Amino acid sequence: MGYELMSLHILGDSRGSLIALEENYNIPFAIKRVYYIFDTKKDVQRGFHAHIDLKQLAICVKGECTFILDDGKHREEIRLDSASKGLLIEGLIWREMHNFSPDCVLLVLASEHYNEDDYIREYDKFLEILAT
Ligand code: TYD
Repeated sequence: MGYELMSLHILGDSRGSLIALEENYNIPFAIKRVYYIFDTKKDVQRGFHAHIDLKQLAICVKGECTFILDDGKHREEIRLDSASKGLLIEGLIWREMHNFSPDCVLLVLASEHYNEDDYIREYDKFLEILAT
């Protein structure tokens, strides 16, 4: 439980590169939802929440952005700056996204459908839930 930066295998040849994402193979969950964040305006910060029960894999398929991941004790910054870097997040982790490059397309694969009830959007509540 937590997060892990995965190196996604690039299938490349003289024409360029290709990465395949396959559920329960290189993606360690069944994929119920895919969304992507793009055209993010300058200096915008996103996220600022945790999930009760969700697995996600985030990939900057174009451009770059920074994730801040916080388990209630430590905060770590991870720069997603390559289409071959996949950030797997599961369990109770507070996440924020910062410093989007103008061309950033952040693709997210998720293990569950969108459900606002799964979100913890207040940091104090996140710490409270961690302590229970
Ligand atoms: P929001 O949670 O603010 O995005 P982020 O955490 O990346 O900053 O989501 C923005 C809006 O989009 C909000 O109204 C909820 C909606 N939304 C969906 O309808 N489906 C989804 O899968 C996601 C991620 C968000």
